[in-house]
Amino acid sequence: MNTRSNLRTRGTGAVVRAAAAPSASVSRGARGARSCHFAAAGSKRGVARQTVRDQRLAPTKAIATEETTGVTLNNEGKGKRVLVVGGDGYCGWASALHLSARGYEVAIMDNLARRNWDQQLGYDSLTPIASIHKRVAKWKELTGRDITLYLGDICDFEFLAEAWKQFEPEHVVHFGEQRSAPYSMLDRERAVYTQVNNVSGTINILYAMKEFTPDCHMVKLGTMGEYGTPNIDIEEGYLDITHNGRTDTLPYPKQGNSFYHLSKIHDSTNMIFCAKTWGLKVTDLNQGVVYGVKTPETSLDETLINRLDYDSIFGTALNRFVIQAAVGHPITVYGKGGQTRGFLDIRDTVRCIQLAIDNPAEQGKMRVMNQFTELFSVNELASLVKDAGAKLDLDVQVTSVPNPRIEAEEHYYNAKNSKLKDLGLEPHLLGDAILDSLLNVAVEYKDRCDRQLILPANAWGSSGVSRHFVGEKAKSI
Ligand SMILES: NC(=O)c1ccc[n+]([C@@H]2O[C@H](COP(=O)([O-])OP(=O)(O)OC[C@H]3O[C@@H](n4cnc5c(N)ncnc54)[C@H](O)[C@@H]3O)[C@@H](O)[C@H]2O)c1
Repeated sequence: MNTRSNLRTRGTGAVVRAAAAPSASVSRGARGARSCHFAAAGSKRGVARQTVRDQRLAPTKAIATEETTGVTLNNEGKGKRVLVVGGDGYCGWASALHLSARGYEVAIMDNLARRNWDQQLGYDSLTPIASIHKRVAKWKELTGRDITLYLGDICDFEFLAEAWKQFEPEHVVHFGEQRSAPYSMLDRERAVYTQVNNVSGTINILYAMKEFTPDCHMVKLGTMGEYGTPNIDIEEGYLDITHNGRTDTLPYPKQGNSFYHLSKIHDSTNMIFCAKTWGLKVTDLNQGVVYGVKTPETSLDETLINRLDYDSIFGTALNRFVIQAAVGHPITVYGKGGQTRGFLDIRDTVRCIQLAIDNPAEQGKMRVMNQFTELFSVNELASLVKDAGAKLDLDVQVTSVPNPRIEAEEHYYNAKNSKLKDLGLEPHLLGDAILDSLLNVAVEYKDRCDRQLILPANAWGSSGVSRHFVGEKAKSI
């Protein structure tokens, strides 16, 4: 019997196990997700399906075509099953739609923890994001393409295993982690949560690959932040070292600068080990800071809009600056502003994921690619946003605020990034068009901005064992 085709819920159907995530109100150390029951055999699954059925009964518009929407709808990925873990998040949602539009058979796995962290802290995306069920139903309505949902926690191996055996992914794209360095530095509880969530979730995926689909290729999102800011060039994952007359190629030294970055380093080490020990196919994408909000697919309808974070915990540099400019808040440069990092447009993130899938890693040795397109210092970004704002008649001020992070504010930085370009990446470079488009989105939704969430709410040095109630503290600044 073909269990995969018999058991999998298709289209907008959802297999729900644990949509809850840790919350400030949950008792210390408890994982909200753990306390939920597997709903496939119970009521939750029924509820999820009912919701979707109601949406399906609604009158549908004519199916969009490439001609009517400008969105590429083809079948170049036909026959490739891709599980997008963290597919309700910023990079994951855009990637899931990009792949689905190109004919890959896509399933999203997510425990919706990201939405819960916002609720926990009193934050929200600047853009109004629809529920994952509505998002997927709208995508189906507009394009006729199915995305399967598996709502649950990858740290719960029972859930992961059941979903995995149903879907039998040929590629797993793993975005499903707590990805904010400031969040991981809020207090002991969030530090432990970040590392347990990220490291054990990744180990569970590695075990699922080994046990159920040993040919599956993992595309894992790491970060350029794993390398730190060494005073030498940053290579793509490995470094030739000559020491005492002997030479070897070794993993590039990693210097994480927060419990979050350290969790990614631990992941990378575990992935190197599992690729070697079990002969798995593993790609580690060390991604730079992503900016932008629109991809052709997420622009198709407001229900598909991607999240855009501007607060000091989840907002990333350029996105945050653009929103500050749009609401008339001075751009907050941390410290001297000489911190240099790799950046990329979200339209390049989704393309890089496709390139990694279409050119899988070989078995047995983890492949590493640095996923960014340009380097900018924080001061350079602030100045670009100020100039772009002036063209839209926005009076943009730039101010320096005390740096909450313990990091070098002026340093050497030269990182390599040729591997994805060699595979065919044609970068969208940061120019007036993307800055205008981002600024326009920010202006459109600026009434949703809570200015009190813009200033840093925590400093690395003050992370302690007492719980940090960010919402309260941020509002009192
Ligand atoms: N956004 C960036 O600029 C950036 C830069 C470098 C690297 N990355 C990496 O890319 C990945 C995605 O980043 P993002 O910005 O889209 O983050 P995000 O927080 O928007 O999305 C992550 C998603 O993973 C889900 N998730 C987290 N833990 C989970 C678990 N245990 N089980 C199931 N789902 C879980 C969340 O609910 C969320 O939907 C992360 O791994 C991040 O470290 C992001």
